[in-house]
Amino acid sequence: MTDSEPQFNSWYEDHNETDDILRHADANAADQATELSLRPQYLKEYIGQTALKEELSVYIAAAKQREEALDHTLLFGPPGLGKTTLAMIVANEMGVNIKTTSGPAIEKTGDLVAVLNELEPGDVLFIDEIHRLPTNIEEILYSAMEDYFVDIMVGQGPTARAVHFPLPPFTLIGATTRPGMLSKPLRDRFGIINSLAYYKPEELQEIVQRTADIFEAPITETGAHDIASRSRGTPRIANRLLKRVRDFAQVAGKEAIDTEIVNQALDKLRVDEQGLDEIDHKLLTTMMDYYHGGPVGLNTLAANIGEEADTLESMVEPYLLQVGFLQRTPRGRMVTSAAYRHLGRPVPDEQ
Ligand code: ADE
Repeated sequence: MTDSEPQFNSWYEDHNETDDILRHADANAADQATELSLRPQYLKEYIGQTALKEELSVYIAAAKQREEALDHTLLFGPPGLGKTTLAMIVANEMGVNIKTTSGPAIEKTGDLVAVLNELEPGDVLFIDEIHRLPTNIEEILYSAMEDYFVDIMVGQGPTARAVHFPLPPFTLIGATTRPGMLSKPLRDRFGIINSLAYYKPEELQEIVQRTADIFEAPITETGAHDIASRSRGTPRIANRLLKRVRDFAQVAGKEAIDTEIVNQALDKLRVDEQGLDEIDHKLLTTMMDYYHGGPVGLNTLAANIGEEADTLESMVEPYLLQVGFLQRTPRGRMVTSAAYRHLGRPVPDEQ
């Protein structure tokens, strides 16, 4: 783990405001509606995550041949990479229904029993942010996952009694950005555990092109390439940037989304050439200006820039680590010389 205690207050509660719209990969209601229409429905339409797709297609084919439910599946990775989309695709490929809920939405035993009660044989139950399920609810899932039943207590005091609910065979698909926060007994009940990785630029470019085609918005190859390269390896961000750039292109009377309008729009949105935005810049420059580039502890850093440690850890740092601008060491975070160069600053050692 890190030098921080895991924080349970979610980013979703703290950061779902419109000014965060481009920064974070979370979605507001309007975005969710467009996202739904953009989502690929089957594996063959899904771009990227090649190894995972190949694996899943084998497990799906095998489960279908045996006429069984697919094994319970845990998908983890940063937000916006397509965990929910994959869960929906699994249900489509298996030819079953999907019921969707999330860890924070299930507060009481009855909430979970209500969703379980709706399941038909083979159905997928998708639980997003599964690491945020209350412990007592998580425990109910154990028998549901392992033996397809739940025993719940009904009534109180002397009239309390256990009620046995048999369930049809079903597939639980759990999604999490924080796999380390899942308890071991829950993790052990997933037969398939896989991570989603950041997308390659050429995969993101293909996604941008696909989405532009759905929008019937002409886009040049370089325009799609430039949006892709500023999208932090994340399809949700790529699609969102595309929507904003499309607005700029339309108002400017452009016939197609090209490099010029992409640069103009993304500069206005203060998204730099590597996709870093204000909070990334703030984190890196704070470390450089106040801590000589580190090492500095996550909590100290979070307090300095006015963000939750949890937000920094699960939403901001992963991409900075991935592009090599940040390092995690036992003594804390450190910025790299690549980060100094990216921000056009002299590298301390090289001065
Ligand atoms: N839209 C968002 N993510 C996608 C993906 N991985 N493949 C195709 N279209 C997408």
